[in-house]
Amino acid sequence: MSRSLQWYLVLTFLVSQFLRTSHGDVGTAARYSPPYSPTSCYESDPSQFPSSNLFGAAGDGIWDNGASCGRQYLVRCISATQPRACVQGSTIQIKIVDYAGSLRSPPSANGTTMVLSKTAFEAIANASANSINIEFQQ
Ligand SMILES: *[C@@H]1O[C@H](CO)[C@@H](O)[C@H](O)[C@H]1NC(C)=O
Ligand SMILES: *[C@@H]1O[C@H](CO)[C@@H](O)[C@H](O)[C@H]1NC(C)=O
Repeated sequence: MSRSLQWYLVLTFLVSQFLRTSHGDVGTAARYSPPYSPTSCYESDPSQFPSSNLFGAAGDGIWDNGASCGRQYLVRCISATQPRACVQGSTIQIKIVDYAGSLRSPPSANGTTMVLSKTAFEAIANASANSINIEFQQ
């Protein structure tokens, strides 16, 4: 292997690692069940919920005093205490519609970065897990 090719491979690897880590943040996610409405963002407006049912509530770290309402996040499960809880290779896009601190139905864990609707949570993790570690990106 030529020396320039070796350098090229090393640089490509470093750049890809940099892009990987700088594009996503790491956090935690819990799940919650209906009733989902009314929400802190849009009260009882039924059109707030995407037809995919992929939505969630923002925890204190991303709530941003309500500015997070309507933000879209890409979310994937990276690990969990419960073995094999993550659905490998599954990334979802969710919309923030509520504040995790004032949900109508209690979340499966307190203090997480976000709380996901049942449909959203089960798309990336085993439904019986209470809390998972996630990578997320706006
Ligand atoms: C979350 O906190 C509330 C209020 O302190 C408590 O009632 C509830 O049991 C907690 N939920 C979990 C899953 O720990
Ligand atoms: C989810 O986890 C439970 C408890 O660990 C396990 O019994 C079940 O088989 C898992 N479901 C899937 C689809 O992996």
